[in-house]
Amino acid sequence: MSFDFSPFLEACAEARRTALSFSDPLIVHHLDADGVSSGAIVESAFRAEWKKHRRICIKKLGDTELDSIKDEKEIIFVDLGGGNPRVNELHDVLIIDHHQTKGVTKPQINPLLYGIDGGDELSAAGTAALVFDAHYDLGVVGAVGDMQYPLRGANRLLIERGQKNGEIELANELRMFGRYSRPLTQFLAYSDEPYLPGISFNELNAEKLLSDLQIPLQKGERWRTYSDLSETEKKKLVSSLSDLLVEKGKPFIAENLVGETYLLTKREKRSETYDASEFSTMLNACGRHGRPDIGVAVCLGEKWAEEEAAQLLRLHKTRIREGILFARESIVDFGPFLFLDARDKIEDSIVGIVCGMAIGGSPKPILGIASSEEGRGIKVSARGTRAQINAGLNLGNAMAAGVKVSGGVGGGHKIAAGANIPSENLNEFLTAVADYLRQKP
Ligand code: C5P
Repeated sequence: MSFDFSPFLEACAEARRTALSFSDPLIVHHLDADGVSSGAIVESAFRAEWKKHRRICIKKLGDTELDSIKDEKEIIFVDLGGGNPRVNELHDVLIIDHHQTKGVTKPQINPLLYGIDGGDELSAAGTAALVFDAHYDLGVVGAVGDMQYPLRGANRLLIERGQKNGEIELANELRMFGRYSRPLTQFLAYSDEPYLPGISFNELNAEKLLSDLQIPLQKGERWRTYSDLSETEKKKLVSSLSDLLVEKGKPFIAENLVGETYLLTKREKRSETYDASEFSTMLNACGRHGRPDIGVAVCLGEKWAEEEAAQLLRLHKTRIREGILFARESIVDFGPFLFLDARDKIEDSIVGIVCGMAIGGSPKPILGIASSEEGRGIKVSARGTRAQINAGLNLGNAMAAGVKVSGGVGGGHKIAAGANIPSENLNEFLTAVADYLRQKP
């Protein structure tokens, strides 16, 4: 029997009424791709109704952040709020979240409260799209940004509705960055996910591969992109990349080279915003480099923001490339998990992204640590794979087990989680996480 979404959808309609009953709310959203896209959906709903509102983007909702907004009369939390019972101390509040939640008595729309897996099957942006019945394309961007690929469960509602209103198309394609936005050589040479041995970060080899396959780089004056290739050319390229990965001992990555991709057909075709995965990387770049406002503007289709967002994306890709090169040399096997000590090497806001890329098809989850940008303490980022989740892994709980002994805060999803802990308690934290993972894979 298929899942009955109607109680959740009724609650979404109720949440919309609550949101729009506010006269001048402060929208407080998270800064990752899901946070930025969901914040933009709420902002868009208020703009559409010509209603007053303000919006801020924060990295986490801790005591300092709560103290700074305690006098606000109306707040809409997006992609956070559900995890901190101190929101009960605030005035009128609506929470649109999909993280694990406990002890919150304020109105909250959260798929987890309706039997829908918020870690895997609906993100904050997906929830916000269903609440406001708008921007299903951004709902998909948030889901992909939160590693909910391939989209299933409640996420399929977004696809159905987005297809119906002409915002989304599905394609079975090479899952690499820049199919629509990058010239072919750069498409291959700048591929960090997947990392293509001998080709990634080597333009000469990338160009040679294309020339060996007799794929012309230009059509007239214009540089061709992957999306310009004929079906035969695409097949040749995909099978040669797949052969290369198998040959280099990465059959798991080769198997996942091609898969479902989400095209955002109301967006500019030759830009990163045309593909949900690329769009989510762009939003991560904006949020993680201190300019979530640019990300929100791109979500809302404001042309002025596109060039700046593209520049932030280039910076982000450079930092990730440096991070991956460091990770490749530095990951050690800690038994129940792989460990990357990236203190003073990788920024705390991207260490999780680097871990997510470095994990590949590993049978163990990975924990990365970075120096906290807030000056004190250590930021931990943990990433798993879908196969590990299927075998019972829950990194959100693993982080919770760690902070219980080390102090600090932490939690998150089964597949991606994190913590901020005092530096002096790192060993206690790692030991507790290892013990937890030994008992529960
Ligand atoms: O920062 P990173 O991307 O590694 O965070 C992954 C997830 O871990 C976040 O989406 C959030 O749900 C969770 N997290 C948390 N507490 C922290 C840091 C991260 O709950 N202090």
